[in-house]
Amino acid sequence: MKRFKLSLRLNKLSPYLFAEIDNQKQRLRQQGKALIDLSIGDPDILAPRGMLKVLCRSARLKENQRYALDRGKYSLRGAIKRWFRKRFGVLLSEEREILPLIGSKEGLVHFPLAFVNPQDYIILPSPAYPGYQGAAILAGARIYHLSLKEENNFLPDLERIPLRIRNKAKIIYLNYPNNPTTVLAPPDFLKRVVSFCARYGIIVVYDNAYSEIYFGRKPLSILEIKGAKEIACEFHSFSKTFSMTGFRIGWACGNKKLIDGLLKVKTNVDSGVFSALQDAAAYSLDKEEQYVANLRKTIKRRRDIFLEGIKKLGFEKIWAESTFYVWSKLPSKFHSSLSFCQLLLRKGVVSTPGIGFGSNSDRFVRFALTVDFRQLKQATALMGRI
Ligand SMILES: Cc1ncc(COP(=O)(O)O)c(C=O)c1O
Repeated sequence: MKRFKLSLRLNKLSPYLFAEIDNQKQRLRQQGKALIDLSIGDPDILAPRGMLKVLCRSARLKENQRYALDRGKYSLRGAIKRWFRKRFGVLLSEEREILPLIGSKEGLVHFPLAFVNPQDYIILPSPAYPGYQGAAILAGARIYHLSLKEENNFLPDLERIPLRIRNKAKIIYLNYPNNPTTVLAPPDFLKRVVSFCARYGIIVVYDNAYSEIYFGRKPLSILEIKGAKEIACEFHSFSKTFSMTGFRIGWACGNKKLIDGLLKVKTNVDSGVFSALQDAAAYSLDKEEQYVANLRKTIKRRRDIFLEGIKKLGFEKIWAESTFYVWSKLPSKFHSSLSFCQLLLRKGVVSTPGIGFGSNSDRFVRFALTVDFRQLKQATALMGRI
């Protein structure tokens, strides 16, 4: 029988972290173990009711049942334009500067195919959302990892990037509000990013998937920074803002040429976002501001309850500034995030080991606040003193 060998490219991809954890979880559940799942950033809260009504109504219309080719519905791009201007004070053109996506991950992963040749460098923060690593490998790029260090409040030190990398890098991925560390990017850091990348001709892929999940300072768009539209493409998601992870819709916005490049990849790969979903997404942006405000309140209450619980358990350094994650240093007697998470799994709590976000994060663990108050209290009780 003919042997099928995976491509060299695919062999370079490590198994998707969340899929691994999911397998372990399934095994334990099959054995009858009850688990509280704080591992994946998949909200348990119902998506906005009004949006669901629009989706159902719109799905019945014949014109919405056909391929959704081109740049996405004009009406959705218009809603994104209005929302962006209101939220960030940035004016985008619906003609050329906005592109709906099948979830932000789809765009984040396809983006390098438009601009990277084999052997070009992509600069990736570490720790980071694992999707970026997959994007770089699938595009055949070389990766330069830029450490996000605790002492720098998890902002990268751009000056540490060697000159030879600066000159060969095509793209840098940045993500604030940050998954997994939860920190925000201050305006002067974003200004430094824009001037650095403009100087070396590096494209900024700015992942703003968590822009609306904040509790104090409002996160910025990099497009608010002067000069950013020359070099940046920003990614947004309906997944976290409107608890719509399973629906699959997001958007890219920013520099026209960058948007055009991504569109060219996409027209060769997919056939657009379901038109009824585009109507529903536009409705969410226009009408569901209160839903988002309530979501923030709920997540903040969850965060406060959970922090109160885990502080008593021996976790000393904890970050929970934004997003619905809690990022924590392991209690000092632990040295491996994987064995620590396995210990928690045996106690009935699923968490994500820091190592899954980068090799420099093995002394960290991430908890996702995607269960209700009762279960969060139960989780800290199950963890017990560590
Ligand atoms: C930082 C970050 N970016 C992007 C995504 C992808 O979100 P979407 O559901 O829009 O594809 C996630 C999902 O967890 C994420 O954490």
